[in-house]
Amino acid sequence: MAPPGRRERPFSSGRFPGLLLATLVLQLSSFSDACEAPPTFEAMELIGKPKPYYKVGERVDYKCKKGYFYVPPLATHSICDRNHTWLPVSDEGCYREMCPHIRDPLNGEAILANGSYEFGSELHFICNEGYYLIGKDILYCELKDTVAVWSGKPPLCEKILCTPPPKIKNGKHTFSEVEVFEYLDAVTYSCDPAPGPDPFSLIGESMIYCGNNSTWSHAAPECKVVKCRFPVVENGKQISGFGKKFYYKATVMFECDKGYYLNGSDKIVCESNSTWDPPVPKCLKVSTSPNTKSPTSSASGPRPTYKPPVSNYPGYPKPDEGILDSLDDWVIALIVIVIVVAVAVICVALYRFLQGRKKKGTYLTDENHREVKFTSL
Ligand SMILES: *[C@@H]1O[C@H](CO)[C@@H](O)[C@H](O)[C@H]1NC(C)=O
Ligand SMILES: *[C@@H]1O[C@H](CO)[C@@H](O)[C@H](O)[C@H]1NC(C)=O
Ligand SMILES: *[C@@H]1O[C@H](CO)[C@@H](O)[C@H](O)[C@H]1NC(C)=O
Ligand SMILES: *[C@@H]1O[C@H](CO)[C@@H](O)[C@H](O)[C@H]1NC(C)=O
Ligand SMILES: *[C@@H]1O[C@H](CO)[C@@H](O)[C@H](O)[C@H]1NC(C)=O
Ligand SMILES: *[C@@H]1O[C@H](CO)[C@@H](O)[C@H](O)[C@H]1NC(C)=O
Repeated sequence: MAPPGRRERPFSSGRFPGLLLATLVLQLSSFSDACEAPPTFEAMELIGKPKPYYKVGERVDYKCKKGYFYVPPLATHSICDRNHTWLPVSDEGCYREMCPHIRDPLNGEAILANGSYEFGSELHFICNEGYYLIGKDILYCELKDTVAVWSGKPPLCEKILCTPPPKIKNGKHTFSEVEVFEYLDAVTYSCDPAPGPDPFSLIGESMIYCGNNSTWSHAAPECKVVKCRFPVVENGKQISGFGKKFYYKATVMFECDKGYYLNGSDKIVCESNSTWDPPVPKCLKVSTSPNTKSPTSSASGPRPTYKPPVSNYPGYPKPDEGILDSLDDWVIALIVIVIVVAVAVICVALYRFLQGRKKKGTYLTDENHREVKFTSL
C-alpha cells in the first residue's frame, strides 16, 4: 500500500510482482520522508488509532493514561519531521494519581517509603518505643479504576502491657500485688528461706522486665537447693574456694602435689544440677621416661619435677651463689675490723690529750662569765 499522493512507477505489476514490492519497500524506507508509528509512552497514549505511515508535517496528539493527570506546560503532541523522525515529545507532563494523605498514628509515625503519595508507593508505619502496632505495618498506594487508594486501613499503636510474671516455687517476686505491668516495668525474684540446712539458690535472672512483645525479658528464675559434693583431688590440694559446703556457683581451684600434674581444669564451678563443671580434675604422676624429662621447661604441659622456690627461704644456702656470698662476708669482716681498730686508736689519742690538759689546769670562760671546767669528766 503506497502512501497517499505518491505516483506509481511504470512497472507491470503482472510480470514483476516481487520486484514491485521490493522497490516499494525500498522507496518507503530510504527515499521517502514518511514517518512510521509514533513513539509510545508509559504515562500517555495516542488519541485515535495509530496509522502505519504519516506524512511530513502531520501531527499526532496524546493524552494521559488512566491514573495519570496532565499538568501544563509540556506539549502532548508531536509532528512528523523529515528523515523519518518525530519531533521530540515526552510524557513528563502526566502525573500519577495520588493516594490521600494519611496522618501519623497516635504514638507512632507514618513514613513515605518512596517519597510520594503516587500510586505504586508505600507508606510504612512504626510505633514509638513502648507501643506496639495493631494492623498492617505497610500500606500500598494502588490504582483502582482511575483513582489511587491505599491498600488498607492505617494501623494503631497500642501501649505495651504485660500480665504479671510467673509465680515460682520456693520463691517470690516484688510487686506481686500488681495486675498490669507497663513496658520496662521490672520485678525482682528472691528465694524463700529453706526448711533444711541448705539454702535455696536462685538459678537464672533475678530481675526481669516487661519487654517488646508484651513478654517478660527472661524466663522466671528457679529456686532450689544446689549442693555439690566435696571435690576430692588425690595428690593435690585446694588453693582457693575452701569450705565445707559447696552451693550454686561455688568455685574451687586446685594445685597438684610435687611430682604430679593436673589433668583437667584447675578451676571448677558448682552448677545448677549439683555437679561440678568442668568435672573435678585429677593429679597424675609425672612420667619419668626420658622424653618428658625437661626440668628447665616452664612451658605448658606436665611439669616433671617440682623445684621449691629457694629464694623464699632466707636461711637456705643458694647453691650457685655460695662462693660469692663468702667473699662478701670476708669483705664485711675486714671493714668491721678496720673500723674497730680506728675507733680504738682515736680513743687512745683522745685520752692522752685530755690527760695532758688536766695537768695544766686550764679553765675556759663563756660569755656570761660563768666558769666552766671543760675537762671535768
Ligand atoms: C537522517 O538520519 C540518519 C540516521 O538516522 C542520519 O545519519 C542522517 O544524517 C539524517 N539526515 C538528515 C538530512 O537529517
Ligand atoms: C518503595 O520503597 C520500598 C522500600 O524502600 C521499595 O521496596 C519499593 O521497591 C519502592 N517502590 C517503588 C515503586 O519505588
Ligand atoms: C524494643 O524494640 C525497639 C525497636 O526494635 C528497640 O529499640 C528497643 O530497644 C526494644 N526494647 C527492648 C526492651 O528490648
Ligand atoms: C518478639 O516475638 C518475635 C516472634 O514472636 C520474636 O522473634 C522476637 O524475638 C520477640 N522479641 C522480643 C524482644 O522478645
Ligand atoms: C586426661 O584425662 C582425659 C580423660 O579424663 C584423658 O582422655 C586424657 O588422655 C588425659 N590426659 C593425660 C595427659 O593423661
Ligand atoms: C549438669 O550441667 C552441666 C552444664 O551445666 C552439664 O554439662 C552436665 O552434663 C549436667 N549433668 C547432669 C548429670 O545433668
